[in-house]
Amino acid sequence: MLRFFTAGESHGKGIFAYLEGVPANFEIDFDFINSELARRQRGYGRGGRMKIERDKVEFLSGVRLGKTLGSPILMAVWNRDYKNWEEIMKPEKGELPKEKVVSRPRPGHADLPGVLKYGFDDVRNVLERSSARETAGRVAAGALCKDILRRLGIEIGSFVLSIGSVKVPREMIEGKELKELFKLAEESEVRIPVKDKEVEERFKEEIDWARKKGESLGGTFLVFATGIPVGLGSHTQWDKRLDGRIAQGIMSIQAIKGVEIGLGFKGAELPGSKVHDEIFYNSEKGFYRLTNRAGGIEGGITNGEPIIVKAAMKPIPTLYRPLRSVDIRTKEPFEASVERSDVCAVPAAAVVGEAMVAITLLGALLERYPADDFKRLRELFP
Ligand SMILES: Cc1cc2nc3c(=O)[nH]c(=O)nc-3n(C[C@H](O)[C@H](O)[C@H](O)COP(=O)(O)O)c2cc1C
Repeated sequence: MLRFFTAGESHGKGIFAYLEGVPANFEIDFDFINSELARRQRGYGRGGRMKIERDKVEFLSGVRLGKTLGSPILMAVWNRDYKNWEEIMKPEKGELPKEKVVSRPRPGHADLPGVLKYGFDDVRNVLERSSARETAGRVAAGALCKDILRRLGIEIGSFVLSIGSVKVPREMIEGKELKELFKLAEESEVRIPVKDKEVEERFKEEIDWARKKGESLGGTFLVFATGIPVGLGSHTQWDKRLDGRIAQGIMSIQAIKGVEIGLGFKGAELPGSKVHDEIFYNSEKGFYRLTNRAGGIEGGITNGEPIIVKAAMKPIPTLYRPLRSVDIRTKEPFEASVERSDVCAVPAAAVVGEAMVAITLLGALLERYPADDFKRLRELFP
């Protein structure tokens, strides 16, 4: 069984990712993991933090001389900023100056429910962990999973479909290969899968508009996985259904408020004949489909078609334009505004989405092809 957790606070010593169940003898590609961390930090509309952090992974356990040992893997992404926060964030005993206590919860964050739940009088005790800085751990672990999948022929990618009210025109992507769209998205500052200056400009203008107005924006993105064998996940129990597992992985990303597999919500508007993928057979291909509206999963089981997941991200909750809130100490109203924040992080969230799909898929794959050793996994894999 593949187990995955993260630990770490946004301004603590670092963000840590724990992976257990990764087969032994897999050669780590350190550069690949670091390049994935860099992909998470890119994107038009990011805030000041991204300029401070240049994330790099360090393995603390589970890897020896460049290869996995089959033992628990602990990865660290150190927070370079920690030295400036040590007095406030150190684990050792200490006195916090009164003015450093955060008593103003920001709407749209875990701040208020978090302090009420845990009985804190300092919002920082919540916001440090609820921050999306945590996604550096997801991307580090996801990169390792992705690399393993890649060497089995499974490719995972993503692209942005919309930011705020601006959408990628459907006719520009319809009928195109997923890998081709992904390649274009990698070259775009807003991760859109088209090479068109005018469309790219429309996206950037939307973000510039939001920045100028002190606003923030959300959007939608698509994550895909190709080269998927038939039979990952199972219809036999609710928590084995792969669509459900992928949805949890994606929905657990900070600010994600909607997940669709295949046609998703659109399918609810259409008659059945326009939703289900008819089945064909010939001796060369075996069973095959001409459409993939199901997004590669039927009954919680992969059907061999590419997995297609879409996600909706809400606008970043910290705005330059203040939102009304109430001080938890004085109970006085105030207007919450920011120090520094992203205006839009949809392109980065898409990269985090890839990581969550990679972790979920590797977990499901190791259930179907259990292997302690990567060589064995290669033999078992069809
Ligand atoms: C990649 C990424 C970057 C984010 N950056 C910020 C940010 O700079 N400022 C902010 O207020 N929220 C940011 N968020 C969103 C918040 O972390 C999130 O909305 C908050 O933790 C509350 O969780 P919820 O929206 O899932 O309820 C980001 C989310 C992601 C995925």
